[in-house]
Amino acid sequence: MASQKATAEAKSNIAFIKYWGNRNNALRIPLNDNLSMNLDHAFTTTTVAFDAQINADQIVIGENEAQGAARDRVIAHLDRVRAIAKIETRARVQSQNNFPMGAGIASSASAFAALSLAATRAAGLELSERDLSMLARLGSGSACRSIPGGFVEWIAGHGGNASYAYSLAAPAHWDLRDVIAIVSAEEKKVGSSDGHSIAHTSPFLLTRQNNLPARFHRVRHAIRARDLALLGPAIEEDAVELHLIAMTSRPPIFYWSPGMVRVIDAARAWRADGLAVYFTLDAGPNVHLICESKDADQVASRAREIADVQQVIVNAPGDAARLIEAHLF
Ligand code: PMV
Repeated sequence: MASQKATAEAKSNIAFIKYWGNRNNALRIPLNDNLSMNLDHAFTTTTVAFDAQINADQIVIGENEAQGAARDRVIAHLDRVRAIAKIETRARVQSQNNFPMGAGIASSASAFAALSLAATRAAGLELSERDLSMLARLGSGSACRSIPGGFVEWIAGHGGNASYAYSLAAPAHWDLRDVIAIVSAEEKKVGSSDGHSIAHTSPFLLTRQNNLPARFHRVRHAIRARDLALLGPAIEEDAVELHLIAMTSRPPIFYWSPGMVRVIDAARAWRADGLAVYFTLDAGPNVHLICESKDADQVASRAREIADVQQVIVNAPGDAARLIEAHLF
């Protein structure tokens, strides 16, 4: 192996057109094309070192040795990298987020994007952006969108080798902000992998699939044209539809919460008052308030005044996953 240790940083992302439900669960091939923006202030840093001296993978997430399903998922991903690199060597992995995990800020997206880049480089591989994105997708679907930079489209594709993400526009294309209002930093009870696998049990999934192509084109056009008045209503519709599918799946999943609804109500009232802000949601309790940079301070300070909001994180469009020099160990 040419290189044995590498560290990568990858940004989380917020979807404007959501991924909810798979055509193929094992390969994480989504039902629909989807689209997101990387978040410059919500990122994961991961160091991977392949070490011939150890006989089991050692994985530390945050301060703690990873356990159970979280550990297995990282090992399964390391196995994918070992299979490509044709090596057996075990690895030491350390990973940290600069934001609360499992709180509706997609930590699995930035985590598997950073892991994919760090592990392939540590194994001496240099994958293309497209191949890296497909590898990240196998760890967590939305992770494929955290490999390219800025505004990113994930082409659903019809096979494992045709489902990947690419950058629609660089971060500098549009000075948009995602002001995340953290309503709860608790780990969510039902993970998105489980949500995807039961999406087809919702009687409304077909309606969503029929609505999506037109909405997807509207959102893509709005990004290209930097048109917030066109983008905003479309992303709100899509966020509500994601929760509709979750709540009407069997068994139902309620990520929807009273605090979240109070923030949404407030944002709608500010908008009626002339502030150009729109909401989107993830599979969690937090509200992502989308506005232009000129309004971000105003949106953030109003969000901080809401009793349900514990913390506010303001994000500009983030760049692509990248290697960094500062190793975590
Ligand atoms: O990548 P996953 O399995 O964590 O799924 C992400 C699902 C949503 O965040 C709710 C939507 C999306 O497109 O990011």
